Amino acid sequence: MKILEKIRKAGLVLSVLMNNRLKGNLAVCELSSSCRLQKGVTVSFGKKGELKLRDNVKVKTGAVFECLGMIDIGAGSVVGVYNWFQGGGSITFGRNVIVGSHCNFIASTHSFNEKYTDFKKQPLVKGDIEIGDNVWIGSHVTILNNVKIGDNVIIGAHSLVNADIESNSIAVGTPARVMKKVWE
Ligand SMILES: CC(C)(COP(=O)(O)OP(=O)(O)OC[C@H]1O[C@@H](n2cnc3c(N)ncnc32)[C@H](O)[C@@H]1OP(=O)(O)O)[C@@H](O)C(=O)NCCC(=O)NCCS
Repeated sequence: MKILEKIRKAGLVLSVLMNNRLKGNLAVCELSSSCRLQKGVTVSFGKKGELKLRDNVKVKTGAVFECLGMIDIGAGSVVGVYNWFQGGGSITFGRNVIVGSHCNFIASTHSFNEKYTDFKKQPLVKGDIEIGDNVWIGSHVTILNNVKIGDNVIIGAHSLVNADIESNSIAVGTPARVMKKVWE
């Protein structure tokens, strides 16, 4: 966290290569000088990890970014308290995405094809999550891998999103289904 604050205060908008001491790999961290991180934000990088927090992004307390692939948070977005970004695949936000508290973005999953083998030993299968512009995600929402959410979408509190949601819609439930168009 201290390193991230230093990078942000230095106003570096270009990529900064961070040494991942555990594995000796280089990860990319690109923070706009106008982004804001509250205390208690945790970031870790894998081999090909990338984190981009663009202009005026606000990340609230307790958010966890596990950057195994790329996590790219679009300008003006707000990440609520205790959000978990499990970035096996990439996770990308458009502009002005607002996320309530305790949401999960899970961009990979364990396969379970090998019989009688512990799940933890089975390969991780990556799948990207892509979220458009002007999306409001309510609290306690979980978004699974291989999901694309369009622009101007609202996802109701406590929803599980496991399939694409089209632009200009409000979706709720487990699994989330479109209940109506937004601005109708
Ligand atoms: C999705 C949401 C915006 C819908 O608001 P709305 O259009 O006023 O919806 P209504 O209250 O009229 O509900 C319409 C129907 O959807 C259902 N519904 C609404 N939100 C729901 C949700 N989150 N999960 C499941 N069903 C939901 C209602 O029960 C109702 O069903 P019915 O027609 O069978 O009675 C709102 O319910 C919501 O979840 N907001 C998120 C709040 C939040 O988490 N904020 C965090 C701060 S960023």
